[in-house]
Amino acid sequence: MGIDPNRPSAARVYDAFLGGRHNFAADRVVATRAVELVPDLPRIARANRAFLHRAVRYALSLGIDQFLDLGSGIPTEGNVHEVAQQIDPAARIAYVDIDPTAVLYAQDLLAGNPHAVVVRGDLRDPETVLAGHPLREVLDLSRPVAVLMVAVLHFTPDSPGLTAALRGYRAAVAPGSLLAISHATSSGTDPHAVERVADLYNRTGTPLALRSREQVAGLFEGWELVEPGLVYGPEWRPDPAEPVVRDPARLLTLAGVGIARD
Ligand SMILES: C[S@@+](CC[C@H](N)C(=O)[O-])C[C@H]1O[C@@H](n2cnc3c(N)ncnc32)[C@H](O)[C@@H]1O
Repeated sequence: MGIDPNRPSAARVYDAFLGGRHNFAADRVVATRAVELVPDLPRIARANRAFLHRAVRYALSLGIDQFLDLGSGIPTEGNVHEVAQQIDPAARIAYVDIDPTAVLYAQDLLAGNPHAVVVRGDLRDPETVLAGHPLREVLDLSRPVAVLMVAVLHFTPDSPGLTAALRGYRAAVAPGSLLAISHATSSGTDPHAVERVADLYNRTGTPLALRSREQVAGLFEGWELVEPGLVYGPEWRPDPAEPVVRDPARLLTLAGVGIARD
């Protein structure tokens, strides 16, 4: 599937931030340098996973039992199907990632799970992603689905193609569907450190495209943000059992969930 261990990949660098084992020396060089520049990065990755889990549980609380996880990453602790199927064993999940490493490990993990699939795909091509046979086997797009774009859109720079793709997902889903986004932001951060991290990511196949708060809000076009709106990740419907993060802005991530009203 074209895995190059000498070329760092954003998926494997993120796995390294989370303390995972599915990464190579080239990925760890980027991860180590990035953490030197922004020491909170492992904390940021964990807080991002916690947002993902809360968003999944929120969807289930609304009766949504199917998930389209775009840019799903290398499987780690608390994958979407695990969180969702713990609550609803019949919950259905389609994982999509552009990175062959992420897809290979997910295939391995999902073997024997009749309600979850993984496909390799580029989220910027919704027609191909949504038409895929394995995905159609598990998702019924005539019913509400939770579309997850968690920590992925900062790898897709603004372009007419991205705007069209986001509109494509919005047009394809049923009323009552959700869109969850978390996104690294340039608002309220140390611009020099962020610039240097962006330079490091340029060495990977997926360079960073940070956005301001206004730009992240713009990604929800066609969706109505649910309370509390677009906030720093730890502030999005915090779980009372989770420790309170006192300086959420330091975690450099904005998060929100939108609903498709019609
Ligand atoms: C930082 S990881 C996030 C993983 C997971 N969503 C999470 O939040 O824990 C970003 C993932 O997005 C994937 N990715 C980047 N650009 C993509 C694209 N255009 N289409 C699909 N996946 C993409 C990367 O390969 C990587 O696995």
